[in-house]
Amino acid sequence: MPTTLIILAHPERRSFNGAWAEESARQSTTQGQTVLWSDLNAMGFDPAESAKHYRAPAVPFDPLKAQENAAFANSLPDTVQTEIAKITKADRLIFHFPIWWFGPPAILKGWCERVLAHGALHTVDERFDNGRCIGKKAMFCVTAGAQQSESAHNGKEGDVQMLLWPLAYTLRYLGMTVLQPNVCSGVHGYFKDEAETELTLRLSSVLKKHADTIKDFDSLPSITFNSDRDFDSDGRLKPEAPSHSHFIRHDP
Ligand SMILES: Cc1cc2nc3c(=O)[nH]c(=O)nc-3n(C[C@H](O)[C@H](O)[C@H](O)COP(=O)(O)O)c2cc1C
Repeated sequence: MPTTLIILAHPERRSFNGAWAEESARQSTTQGQTVLWSDLNAMGFDPAESAKHYRAPAVPFDPLKAQENAAFANSLPDTVQTEIAKITKADRLIFHFPIWWFGPPAILKGWCERVLAHGALHTVDERFDNGRCIGKKAMFCVTAGAQQSESAHNGKEGDVQMLLWPLAYTLRYLGMTVLQPNVCSGVHGYFKDEAETELTLRLSSVLKKHADTIKDFDSLPSITFNSDRDFDSDGRLKPEAPSHSHFIRHDP
């Protein structure tokens, strides 16, 4: 059975982020997907990696080695094992979150830090083009308080596509394909009167259109990343290789 994992990072399920995530779940079910949920705030997920999560951790605590040792000993924290099992089962991962301080909320960053564990979802030999998650597709559904013009490449709030690149590259590191993000701009609770009505209409139209997004999921465009062969033995972009992002670019 094809499976979709919905990852929601918002403290209020009745928020627009919550409603959008529920629409992802509803439409995915309609499309014959089994739906799994990780509602991180509702789960009380602890985003801070720390020695306290491990049985007999080394002193001083080395997070990367602790993850690897626990992964090999099959003793990763229960919460982490549960999340890894969901990711392993999922063909599609749909992330729902707001932009908070120019990036995803800390709970989602922490979920990556703890759950995408070294030794479990990646090893030195199994990453990027050889990632353990090859074949899985991820999609971001994101809200921003800033308006669309402010989140454009020349906008005052910074290019939202670039703000999302580190999270996209995290999943690419695991081998996933990452779809071009869906960004809903200008979402906040400070609109009044006509502006508030306009926002309500705009948000309900996003939810209505979402059925098509989920229906077309497999044919939606993805973010282009460099392949392993684009880098030399020092890990530098080869002069003849393309640059797909300002994060990995040629000399000026
Ligand atoms: C802690 C915090 C930081 C925020 N930082 C940003 C930001 O950097 N850029 C932005 O466009 N909006 C920012 N916002 C606004 C949120 O993105 C906005 O409230 C959210 O997308 C609305 O979605 P919701 O109604 O589902 O909560 C921030 C909000 C909070 C609470």
